[in-house]
Amino acid sequence: MFRKLKSSLLFAGLLASTFLQAQTNIDLQLNKPGVAIQPTMWGIFFEDINFAADGGLYAELVKNRSFSFDDPMMGWKTFSKDSIRIINEVAAGTQKRFVRLSALKSGTENFLQNDGFRGMGLHEGEEYRLILHMRAVNGGAQKLKVELLGDDKMTIAEGELTVDGEDWGYAELVLKAGATADKGSLKISLEGNGTVDFKYISLFPVKTFKDRPNGMRLDLAEKLADLKPGFVRFPGGCIVEGHQLDLRYQWKKTVGDVEEREVIINRWNTEFMHRYTPDYYQSFGLGFFEYFQLAEDLGAEPLPILNCGMACQYNTGELVPLDEMEPYVSDALDLIEFANGDSATKWGKLRAEMGHPEPFNLKYLGIGNEQWGDQYLERYDVIAEKVHEKYPEIQLVSGSGPSSDGDRFEHLWKELKTRSANLVDEHYYKDPNWFFNNAKRYDNYERGGLKVFAGEYASHTRVESKDPTSNNNWLAALSEAAFMTGLERNADVVSMASYAPLFAHVDAWQWRPDLIWFDNLNSVTTPNYYVQQMYSTHRGDHVLPVVSEGDILAGQDSLYASASVDKAAKKVYLKLVNSSVAAKSVKINLKGGKLASKEAGLTELYDSDLMAYNTLAKQDVIVPQTSTVAVKGNLLSLELKPKSFILVELTTK
Ligand code: AHR
Repeated sequence: MFRKLKSSLLFAGLLASTFLQAQTNIDLQLNKPGVAIQPTMWGIFFEDINFAADGGLYAELVKNRSFSFDDPMMGWKTFSKDSIRIINEVAAGTQKRFVRLSALKSGTENFLQNDGFRGMGLHEGEEYRLILHMRAVNGGAQKLKVELLGDDKMTIAEGELTVDGEDWGYAELVLKAGATADKGSLKISLEGNGTVDFKYISLFPVKTFKDRPNGMRLDLAEKLADLKPGFVRFPGGCIVEGHQLDLRYQWKKTVGDVEEREVIINRWNTEFMHRYTPDYYQSFGLGFFEYFQLAEDLGAEPLPILNCGMACQYNTGELVPLDEMEPYVSDALDLIEFANGDSATKWGKLRAEMGHPEPFNLKYLGIGNEQWGDQYLERYDVIAEKVHEKYPEIQLVSGSGPSSDGDRFEHLWKELKTRSANLVDEHYYKDPNWFFNNAKRYDNYERGGLKVFAGEYASHTRVESKDPTSNNNWLAALSEAAFMTGLERNADVVSMASYAPLFAHVDAWQWRPDLIWFDNLNSVTTPNYYVQQMYSTHRGDHVLPVVSEGDILAGQDSLYASASVDKAAKKVYLKLVNSSVAAKSVKINLKGGKLASKEAGLTELYDSDLMAYNTLAKQDVIVPQTSTVAVKGNLLSLELKPKSFILVELTTK
């Protein structure tokens, strides 16, 4: 959402500032492209935290659709529990559990009602597809009444289905919502006196991102597409590790028939007692096939991260003995086969059967998340050796622990330099000052060896990520914009970077701040999102030199700058941050090269209130504002507002 402002208005405001300081001269060298910026430079980090997958991006509206939660009826309501029996099947190869709904002798209403993930979001005029896996008990046709209920629990869509016969079968019904509901429900009632068994009850919007069945919620996926991400890292995060090893993320259990995927508790269900989320499970409907497909749909490189034989060291720290690492090695090798193998291979065949005969062209693979110590290195080595033996072309991503400094971090970096890793994943959740002060972090990193994947970062204006006042405010976003000038300038060291976490449901978050917030109907992008977008949609392919009095701009006089060129598009992008409370006057000397247009495009992100942030109700508190400004000769004069981030776009000959 870029707001267009008349440049005269913008600059009238800027010039009116009483805080204008002496002019800073900046030299931007147009004709001396430096190091390459990888197409993967700006990407996204996806983890099922804050209801990001189930209840979020994954468009399924029914919570506990296969009655597989520890409490089989969690998410479901009935008129009377006497009408319900939970039956666990023992037959091999079938789902273990189903629910039997019987008409009560009393003749009272008999139904199953699902209220979704903190309510179901239903949009007036939109169609929703119900899929039921069921059978009639004792034969005979049974009539079912199906309703979508609105916020007031009145019917907003209605239909009928008949279930006939004792064999399990599927029925489908499309319902059109007659009204919008934020806290809607699905209700299925027995019309007659019979008994029906249900194994699986699923309700999806007919419209999903790219019209994929088992697809993604449109508004959320479109916001990802608008970032034009270079890569998608999945499935996390700590979720890869698990509290204990049996609850780690196991990709093989997330592919194949969605209905057969084993549901497990989400680690963020119980992680923070202040944000206790007992109904948070992983259906794995958004599994590895869907992640690969999403990455492809977004035009991004897939970057899966696998467990390395260690559970989260903040939890149990459970370890797989080194001589029992085979399943973890196989997980890595088989995943590469699943992504890239042809359909004559076991795992390539499964991918083809799931609807994607072409390979996904996997190039990157992460081993472990935030592990530390020699125990990590030993396990990393076992997996890395086998992967590189069979697939030397795969770029391996190693962890560097949960912090971007300190003994653990130093130790891993020192050791990894002697190994076959290609990228090192660094994580930093720090305060805004850290981000401002670390714009030079990578200027002195060793060149020519391991690359950095800044895999998780976010500026936190509150110490605790669970603090409800920890918002995506302008101060946090501005400090990230300043820091990112250093990532871009050092693109020969940093080849991938992603903000984290990506999504949060306003009623079900565990961690904040987050890039995109949503409820059941709507979503809102944050100032941090716009900062990411201004970089990712104006990436360029080479860094250009930008200096003031011969020095890079990385905080002196409160200014930060980086520049890039897109050679094919003949575009130059200059990013400038003014972190001062005073406006800044800058004179940009455009050296070398020739401009095709004497007009520079400006995109400005700014708010006078550093604590300001966007909400679902007020979405445009901080949004980019675009304008143009004339270039005079080879000079571009700009007045930078206090605490602002500006992107300048030039077209060269
Ligand atoms: O992004 C939230 C969490 O922060 C991730 O799961 C973990 O890797 C990090 O500690």
